Amino acid sequence: MERKNILSTPIVDAINKYIEENNIPFSMPGHKAGKGFFYTDDGKKLFSNIINGDITEVEGLDNLHKPEGIIKESQELLCKLYGGAKAYYLVNGSTSGILAMIFSTFNEGDKIIVERNCHRSIFNAIILRKLVPIYLKSEIDERFNIPICINEDYILDVINENKDVKGIILTYPNYYGICQNISKIILKAKENNMKVLVDSAHGAHFGFCDSLPQNAVELGADIVVMSAHKTLPSFTQTSFLVANKNIDIENLEFYISAFMTTSPSYMFLCSMDYARNFMELYGKKEFEKCTKLARKYRKIINELSYIHVITPEDLKEKNLGIYIDESRYVINVKKQYSAPLLLKYLKKNNIQCEMCDGINIVLILSPFNNEMDFSKLYEVLKDCPIHEFEIENSLNINDIIEQKIPQSKLLPFEAQKIKDIEIVSVDNCINRVCAENITPYPPGIPILIKGELIDEHALSLIKYYLKSNISILGVDNLKIKVFTKM
Ligand SMILES: Cc1ncc(COP(=O)(O)O)c(C=O)c1O
Repeated sequence: MERKNILSTPIVDAINKYIEENNIPFSMPGHKAGKGFFYTDDGKKLFSNIINGDITEVEGLDNLHKPEGIIKESQELLCKLYGGAKAYYLVNGSTSGILAMIFSTFNEGDKIIVERNCHRSIFNAIILRKLVPIYLKSEIDERFNIPICINEDYILDVINENKDVKGIILTYPNYYGICQNISKIILKAKENNMKVLVDSAHGAHFGFCDSLPQNAVELGADIVVMSAHKTLPSFTQTSFLVANKNIDIENLEFYISAFMTTSPSYMFLCSMDYARNFMELYGKKEFEKCTKLARKYRKIINELSYIHVITPEDLKEKNLGIYIDESRYVINVKKQYSAPLLLKYLKKNNIQCEMCDGINIVLILSPFNNEMDFSKLYEVLKDCPIHEFEIENSLNINDIIEQKIPQSKLLPFEAQKIKDIEIVSVDNCINRVCAENITPYPPGIPILIKGELIDEHALSLIKYYLKSNISILGVDNLKIKVFTKM
């Protein structure tokens, strides 16, 4: 084959262009375009050596898969920082930590309790480990259309009714920074010999000051996975896993190692070492400063009539014992305006947000966002020509229908194996078995999981979201994939 010598680096070109835009980062990673590394002289040196430090295990350095020297020492310091019995650095994100904690805790065929509103890595682990899930439905806040918690009495009932369950997987906090007090659930699960695993991907900064929620390790979870890269000054892909006592460490370490590359970059390890030390020395002071600044600007932004940044007081009104991470903004856009268009406008004005669910825009704030960043955010929001973003077909919040968990016809791992699939119209899918997860955004919780029966309730939800112009993953051109012989 003739090879032409044409320069073509689409990824490099796009990243260079993005860097030149000089956006204000209100998104991951937590180091905010490197600013987090300028806090100490060591950090500055690390920053200037990024490429040279991109080595893996060489003579004289330590082995992440069998740490005996510097990695062991640093991981011990990590453990001291969060508490718990043993702590680990992960270079393949919380995704690898979630797989490792689930594989090490459960065996094939085990029954587990898990939130329906969980990350895809948990759904994938359920398939790969051939688990039998009992899903917990979330309460949805009808004002903002976001999942806020799992009703505590309901979880306790599910635990009481399923004593053969081996463990429970919780998410703390969710993508919106909303948490519920999980200590009672942990206690109840433990009374019933159930292990408690917590996906705290968005909570690595928790517990460092009074204005932030408590850390899940402190609350007594058995294993906690936290993405260092989401909220701390650490590189993308870096995460921590902390195991409390009564965990089979040898077994856990086998799976951590199995789900991780054998060539970890020392730059990842250095950035985790740096982030850990930063939190140890400055976490309290800096996150207090960050939440104080966040509160000040939240108050000013909330004087604008077309948006509302969710406050802890909004959630207190519900009396459900839930709270919000105040180092995060969830900007709820009033229903006559388009949030995706507002997001576009913010990006055009160099404000980089974390995500938009169609109604709310989420921003991840950090100690490395200074007052100028907040002030620019406010100015851009204030000058927004919001009337240009008016929409007609908005979600009718009063129509929100209660979430119900449909009947499972196939376990997730069984459904994954079946290839006989046909595509049917939404109008003809009743009583068929769904061959793809059906998830509306927002709120991002699956209405149906592959292998579940499409009943009247699920269908009415699908139609409701379609009518409201909410995009639904798994529904294409009003058509759904179902299993042929079922
Ligand atoms: C709730 C939750 N859990 C787990 C993950 C996976 O984390 P990572 O990107 O570090 O693999 C994410 C990623 O966004 C997440 O939002």
